Amino acid sequence: MARNERSPLLLTVRVAPARQRYPHNTLRRFCTIALSASLVAIFILFLLPLAFFPSDISPYLPWEFPYPHRDWPRSYALPYDELQDILMSTPNEEQVKEWSEYYTSGPHLAGKNFSQALWTKDRWQEFGITDTSIVSYDVYVNYPIGHRLALLEKKGEKKEEPTKDNWVVKFEAGLEENVHKEDGTSGLEDRIPTFHGYSASGNATAPFVYANYGTHQDFEDLLEADISVKGKIVLVKYGYIFRGLKVKRAQDLGAVGVVIYSDPGDDGDETEEKGVDTYPNGPAREPSSVQRGSVQFLSIAPGDPTTPGYPSKPGVPRQDTQHSIPSIPSIPISYLDALPLLRALNGYGPKASSIGKSWEGGGLGYKGVEYNIGPSPDGLLLNLVNEQEYVTTPMWNVIGIINGSLSDEVVLIGNHRDAWIAGGAADPNSGSATFIEVIRSFGKALEKGWRPLRTIVFASWDGEEYGLIGSTEWVEEFLPWLSGSAVAYLNVDVAVSGPHFKSAASPVLNRALYEITSLVASPNQTIAGQTVRDTWSGHIQTMGSGSDYTAFQDFAGIPCVDMGFSVGPESAVYHYHSNYDSFDWMDKFGDPGWRYHVTVAKLWSLLAAKLVESPLIQFNVTDYAVGLGRYLRSLENEASQSLEGIADENNGGELRDLFDTTFAHLKRSIKKLRKAAIELDTYATELEERLGEDIPWWEWWKKVKLFYEVKKVNNKYKYFERQFLYPQGLDGRSWFKHVVFAPGLWTGYSGATFPGLVESIGERNWTNAKRWSRIIDNRVKLATELFG
Ligand SMILES: *[C@@H]1O[C@H](CO)[C@@H](O)[C@H](O)[C@H]1NC(C)=O
Ligand SMILES: *[C@@H]1O[C@H](CO)[C@@H](O)[C@H](O)[C@H]1NC(C)=O
Ligand SMILES: *[C@@H]1O[C@H](CO)[C@@H](O)[C@H](O)[C@H]1NC(C)=O
Ligand SMILES: *[C@@H]1O[C@H](CO)[C@@H](O)[C@H](O)[C@H]1NC(C)=O
Ligand SMILES: *[C@@H]1O[C@H](CO)[C@@H](O)[C@H](O)[C@H]1NC(C)=O
Ligand SMILES: *[C@@H]1O[C@H](CO)[C@@H](O)[C@H](O)[C@H]1NC(C)=O
Ligand SMILES: [Zn+2]
Repeated sequence: MARNERSPLLLTVRVAPARQRYPHNTLRRFCTIALSASLVAIFILFLLPLAFFPSDISPYLPWEFPYPHRDWPRSYALPYDELQDILMSTPNEEQVKEWSEYYTSGPHLAGKNFSQALWTKDRWQEFGITDTSIVSYDVYVNYPIGHRLALLEKKGEKKEEPTKDNWVVKFEAGLEENVHKEDGTSGLEDRIPTFHGYSASGNATAPFVYANYGTHQDFEDLLEADISVKGKIVLVKYGYIFRGLKVKRAQDLGAVGVVIYSDPGDDGDETEEKGVDTYPNGPAREPSSVQRGSVQFLSIAPGDPTTPGYPSKPGVPRQDTQHSIPSIPSIPISYLDALPLLRALNGYGPKASSIGKSWEGGGLGYKGVEYNIGPSPDGLLLNLVNEQEYVTTPMWNVIGIINGSLSDEVVLIGNHRDAWIAGGAADPNSGSATFIEVIRSFGKALEKGWRPLRTIVFASWDGEEYGLIGSTEWVEEFLPWLSGSAVAYLNVDVAVSGPHFKSAASPVLNRALYEITSLVASPNQTIAGQTVRDTWSGHIQTMGSGSDYTAFQDFAGIPCVDMGFSVGPESAVYHYHSNYDSFDWMDKFGDPGWRYHVTVAKLWSLLAAKLVESPLIQFNVTDYAVGLGRYLRSLENEASQSLEGIADENNGGELRDLFDTTFAHLKRSIKKLRKAAIELDTYATELEERLGEDIPWWEWWKKVKLFYEVKKVNNKYKYFERQFLYPQGLDGRSWFKHVVFAPGLWTGYSGATFPGLVESIGERNWTNAKRWSRIIDNRVKLATELFG
């Protein structure tokens, strides 16, 4: 074909037959399909699941490894049962005795013994808690300067106006505890005088009356009997309620001073009257023993009274203290010093026993005391002098941390160090000595390369005795961090004062406590092989106040446990807050052989380990919901009794109706919570089982999902108790935020349940009762939603 200008530029020129560029067509096609198939597989296997995962799952993905650590869900570098073996086998009697001997060899009043804080820190570091430091606060407290208690009698003519000259001292109280050569610390040069923490200085000379235990009811009974305490000094015995609340009620009623003594009638079977020798020869009370202690209004607010709700750091604003500490003087005395006072009332005023059942008793009848109420006769006055120095001074917490694999789940364990006396062999240094053994045990595990799953914080508090100061200030300072991370706080104050195991706990921890007490052998082997659980009734008290768990439980909503071995009626008398709470007493009467100390060390560290190491937090929220139902039923009974009295008054029927509606509401909410709680606990058990199963590697997303589900359940457990905090707090004591647990307003130590509601009913303020049941109802609903 000729070419000219019309020819197309491109022509098909056939050169040779088209040849296949790649010879293996089938293989090629196969490869292409295989490649795209595997891309799709990868997509389905690795990327598609991501689309279905919640957005906050990223920390759980394999490339974020290690989550939570390489051995998870088993313990890191140390199987759980081996960890338990270490915690069981490390504590020993010789060591704990040595630590006790150290702590009880010299005075360590709050803010007065920095060297004990340092020593504690050094031991912890030596045993492997390298991250240990001293955290201090500037706290407003009193130290004793002087005191006097004397009976003054008027000389000469009865009608004569008293002047300085015609009053003679009939009896001058010693206000000192005897020195015994058998008790090494009772005679220390620098032993601590008898006094009350946060007592007011003052000099009162007045007639006096005897007011039984000085409970709210006792003072009501006096008013009823037309015996006024106004302008008088009130003589009461220790017992039943926190001592500061005795002073508070007396002050509210116009008394000018308070004297509190220890009556041997409350000492059980081991009394001099029953022929038992007194300490140091025998287990009965040493007659000159005095119970020191704080008279802060504990049920209003613990902690530094000048900084309610915030930490006592240098330079912070300071509040007026009159709402939380007394303005009238008070002193503690022995029964030896109380005898002449009580005898002076013989024949004056009604017999105590005539007032009512709770006024009967008293253990000094054999010493010629008739327990009349008084007032004291004309011509007899009591002079009470209390001189205190108030200062703002540092207090030192020792804080140790073992970082876990999870930094946002933290288990705290603590004990206070400060004591009212040089000794404190039971309160608190049976706990402190035990604590060192706990730390030594965990240190042994660290040596083996163990790292806990959750972070552990150890705390040795200062200033507990004056008003839970070290722990309260610390919780106030670290509240945001604690609210986000804290799982539980395990407190031991007095580890051993006798042979009976006692415990208080948030109900979420009841089950864990039963399990742990079933693992540890009881020091009492009346029946061979019996565990602590076997010798314990199993009764777990509700959380009140009286030790360092208060800020955790009632202010921050963190579940707590408090435990220890304490006295029964047949035990040697424990000289609480007296010079005879000493090393020698402990060695001879309290825990000869030191086995109870070692037992507490094991219980404490095993409980901590269970909470720290289990992939699922070992709570049972069903028990909590069941508890709420029980508290409500008992409250309902009380309320209906209270309503019976006013049924005939105006609105009686209407009130009952309102109450029935209100309680019915709350009951329904608690029922719903219980249902949700059972579901959560069941689901947690199921997850725990699934964790035990083997998941093949290629089903990796199952593992991720499981991690994630565990975390979600743990978050629900962790935040559960926080839902019961009411930010505005209880009426008239807004520091207390928990709507379920608080110390009783007029008991201080023992726990009140649904305090806002109970107090409103007590005051017959039905409007407020309804307000409180709505508040509680809302909290219960929040908790239920959290589980949803
Ligand atoms: C502090 O405590 C230790 C040990 O108990 C004691 O030896 C020392 O005397 C105390 N220091 C002061 C200042 O009381
Ligand atoms: C207490 O007051 C009385 C007078 O009311 C006085 O004589 C006495 O010296 C005072 N005592 C002290 C320790 O201040
Ligand atoms: C523990 O963790 C904290 C915060 O993650 C860190 O500041 C600290 O240094 C760690 N301590 C140790 C001993 O690793
Ligand atoms: C020791 O255990 C036995 C049997 O459980 C019990 O009856 C007894 O009261 C216990 N004794 C003490 C001191 O706890
Ligand atoms: C939680 O407590 C309830 C009620 O006491 C009990 O039935 C249940 O088995 C417990 N669940 C777990 C996981 O312990
Ligand atoms: C009852 O409580 C309410 C608060 O809910 C309070 O305003 C009122 O003053 C109280 N009434 C009495 C009589 O105390
Ligand atoms: Zn204590």
